[in-house]
Amino acid sequence: MPRGLFITLEGLDGSGKTTQIKRLAAWLQRRSLDPIVTRQPGGTATGDRIRALLLDSRSTGLAPMTEMALMFADRAQAIAEIIEPALVAGRLVLCDRFTDSTEAYQGGGRELGSQLILDMHRLICGDLQPDLTLLLLPSLSICLERARRRNVRVAAQTGKDENRFEQEEEAFYQRVWRKYREIAAREPQRVVLIEGNLTIDEVHEQIAEAVAERLITAGHTH
Ligand code: TMP
Repeated sequence: MPRGLFITLEGLDGSGKTTQIKRLAAWLQRRSLDPIVTRQPGGTATGDRIRALLLDSRSTGLAPMTEMALMFADRAQAIAEIIEPALVAGRLVLCDRFTDSTEAYQGGGRELGSQLILDMHRLICGDLQPDLTLLLLPSLSICLERARRRNVRVAAQTGKDENRFEQEEEAFYQRVWRKYREIAAREPQRVVLIEGNLTIDEVHEQIAEAVAERLITAGHTH
């Protein structure tokens, strides 16, 4: 059986990733390519516990190295439990965030640098790389405003506090944003950069076009 296809979505908080991943999953389902959809951190029972620890704003004083190591602990579990078995079974995997997030947030935002993250990736994830990464990069001000509004809404509706990252200052997010652009420039074959303040439909069209192209080259269309 041919190996499946691994597609990741990346971007800042409030970049519209969650909306787009749902639309892409529906688009794939209409083409009988029933995807496995997952996210990081989270997606497994252990990963959900790591996620709660990482995102809760009561987790104060977390050292950048701790944060980075927890992201990779979560990822190791997701690879073992979800991603690798699905790819071996020939399935299409859609993952909301992967190592590019660690490079952007911990490497860029927390200033640990790219090399450490890339070395950790090799140690923990081996040679697993996404076949395609869709990077959503609207302007920083739009992302920050949307992320704040969403967090207030989620906290009011569910009592869940996932605000720890949103409490960072703008300079942190500027470093994340710059690191994402750097990754896109370094790996143009893998990373499709979707920039500017586009509508939900416009972003979806660009995503669908990039995915369709990759499905053809990978021989996954019928
Ligand atoms: P989410 O809300 O898109 O699921 O992302 C959770 C938060 O975790 C988001 O602020 C980005 C952050 N994050 C990192 O800092 N490093 C990582 O490796 C991952 C996967 C997420």
